[in-house]
Amino acid sequence: MKIAFIGYGNMANALVSSILTSKNIVLSSDIHIFHNKNKDAYELDKCKFLQSGQDCEDNFDIIFLCIKPKDIESAIKENSHIFLDNQTIVSVAAGITINSIKDLIQKNVLIARAMPNLCAIFNESITGLCMQNNMDDNTKDLVENIFKNIGYVRKINEDEMHSFTALYGSGPAYIMYFIESLIDCENFDSITDDEKVLLVLQLLNSTSKLLLTTKDISELRSKVTSKGGTTESAIKVLEENNFSEILKEAVQSARKKSVDLSK
Ligand SMILES: NC(=O)c1ccc[n+]([C@@H]2O[C@H](COP(=O)([O-])OP(=O)(O)OC[C@H]3O[C@@H](n4cnc5c(N)ncnc54)[C@H](OP(=O)(O)O)[C@@H]3O)[C@@H](O)[C@H]2O)c1
Repeated sequence: MKIAFIGYGNMANALVSSILTSKNIVLSSDIHIFHNKNKDAYELDKCKFLQSGQDCEDNFDIIFLCIKPKDIESAIKENSHIFLDNQTIVSVAAGITINSIKDLIQKNVLIARAMPNLCAIFNESITGLCMQNNMDDNTKDLVENIFKNIGYVRKINEDEMHSFTALYGSGPAYIMYFIESLIDCENFDSITDDEKVLLVLQLLNSTSKLLLTTKDISELRSKVTSKGGTTESAIKVLEENNFSEILKEAVQSARKKSVDLSK
């Protein structure tokens, strides 16, 4: 099995590591990476690093497209010599549809789209994965396993990609924004700014652990929100200011942007 990557940034790095650390997928010498740096900027194990567009005799079973959406057209054109009929193409480019990729490649290829998130870099991604039905079961399993090595995988339909991107792709940044805001809420004489960050992160960590063992989050929240207490007072302010509606509007805006980018 030979695998090629076009683009070697954050996402390709995580995926190459996933492939190399899992057994029985492929030897590092069978991974070719087409990048656009001027010189040998990368040295990783025994993978072969080639300049984007460079001649190559090898035939690849799977090609990963790990470039930014804006670069996808030029990167596919530059490397058109490596695309063949019946290959599997796996794209992580946000918002670029299977049909657009097919139009650009102009070969009879089978296409999978994946939407990982930032946490892929330490194998804690949530990845939305959709694969064309006519892909054979072994290839589907292989592609799914590569993404499982960088975290949790949920198979979805292509038309759900926009919602998945808006919620789980951009999700880490929403949580960061919330955490940043929470950190700024109070000041203490005896707690330094660095400690304040650590304490808020511990709050996030322990609350997620609690929620992973909880069936009904709203019920638990009601239980811990005592009538006339401090938490109730804070939640009332969030409700009065339409916190949930604002969040919904923000996620809808991300979904709309994903739809617009796919046109
Ligand atoms: N990072 C995330 O959290 C995340 C999450 C979900 C999906 N994605 C998707 O994953 C894709 C890659 O994201 P990333 O974060 O890995 O981006 P990245 O770190 O910027 O990596 C993209 C790489 O592609 C290279 N490149 C650009 N044009 C090229 C060409 N013609 N031939 C070969 N290489 C080329 C870039 O090189 P230069 O920097 O030199 O231009 C860069 O190293 C994007 O489409 C993004 O939508 C990313």
